[in-house]
Amino acid sequence: MATILGIESSCDDTSAAIIRDGILLSNVIASQQVHEEYGGVVPELASRAHQQNIVPVVDAALKRAGIDKKDLSAISFTRGPGLIGSLLVGTSFAKGLSLGLRVPIVDVNHLHGHVLSHFVKEKEDDEVPEFPYLCLLISGGNSQLILVKSPKDMEVIGQTIDDAAGEAFDKCAKVMGLPYPGGPHIDRLAAEGNPKAFKFAKPHIPGLDYSFSGLKTSFLYTIRDAVRTNPDFVAENKADLAASLQAAIIEILIDKLDKAVKATGITTVAIGGGVSANSGVRKAVADYCSTRGLKAFIPQRKFTTDNAAMVAIAGMFKYLDNDFCAYSAVPYARVTV
Ligand code: KG4
Repeated sequence: MATILGIESSCDDTSAAIIRDGILLSNVIASQQVHEEYGGVVPELASRAHQQNIVPVVDAALKRAGIDKKDLSAISFTRGPGLIGSLLVGTSFAKGLSLGLRVPIVDVNHLHGHVLSHFVKEKEDDEVPEFPYLCLLISGGNSQLILVKSPKDMEVIGQTIDDAAGEAFDKCAKVMGLPYPGGPHIDRLAAEGNPKAFKFAKPHIPGLDYSFSGLKTSFLYTIRDAVRTNPDFVAENKADLAASLQAAIIEILIDKLDKAVKATGITTVAIGGGVSANSGVRKAVADYCSTRGLKAFIPQRKFTTDNAAMVAIAGMFKYLDNDFCAYSAVPYARVTV
């Protein structure tokens, strides 16, 4: 029996989860409100908040799972990519607890966690993807098309050459005066707007790579030009701007997804990362797959943002492979899949 504690502390959420033989027993997340007034995550404040949260969050995860820490087989933790100070808290805590309990540690690439989050089962008969599958990983820092051949064999076949999809949402939302992060606000506003009200520039990037910076600039210019004659332009057109922006981002995402499906012949498609919480993206991917007879894995919203359940499941695959981590391991800020 494998009982894994997963720890996630890469950005501004402190999370701990327990997985036993693939089944999620608990998943506790403490989000940090301290950053709201700054319009973005402040790294030093994030690491201090992780330090305050980590012990009670791990304790709550054990209690909710109904297990004792002595029942753990291994501790998995996010080693990167992310904010170094934040990652250090989770990494150091995992090492300390592992030494105290005499169980191994397993390091997890945060991006692998998102890709493998579809293997977290809440009940025995929950369906999981079959290898190989294509994962569209879309978050605040990444937009990647990944060919997932096995839990440890992933190939990035396309990625953004500038902004990530989440950045496009957030930066355009900022121009509209919406709070950070803007993605969820755009999502909410878009539900009431006309997606065809505005047209923005489309990228012309060959192959499977993404680009969102042209769309961002075109969105910015649309607003800049319009407010010259109508200072209330944004307030009067909030929903239409949001709906048109969201539609443009979705079109870019689906265009390359379609190219990747055709290039690989893959029949299973998964999405992951913060932007996969977007209602329009979820519907577009589900519709795209159903009209082509492809199997779609759309994560539950609670598994789209940073969570330790995905770290625990990615850790479980490595644990079962005896792929442990040395105590000398240090966190890394940057890496791709
Ligand atoms: O994976 P994630 O939690 O972490 C980072 O990579 O930072 O992704 C965060 C991103 C942010 O850009 C946020 O605006 C976006 O995910 N996001 C959304 C939605 N929920 C979160 N974007 C669009 N619609 C949403 N509903």
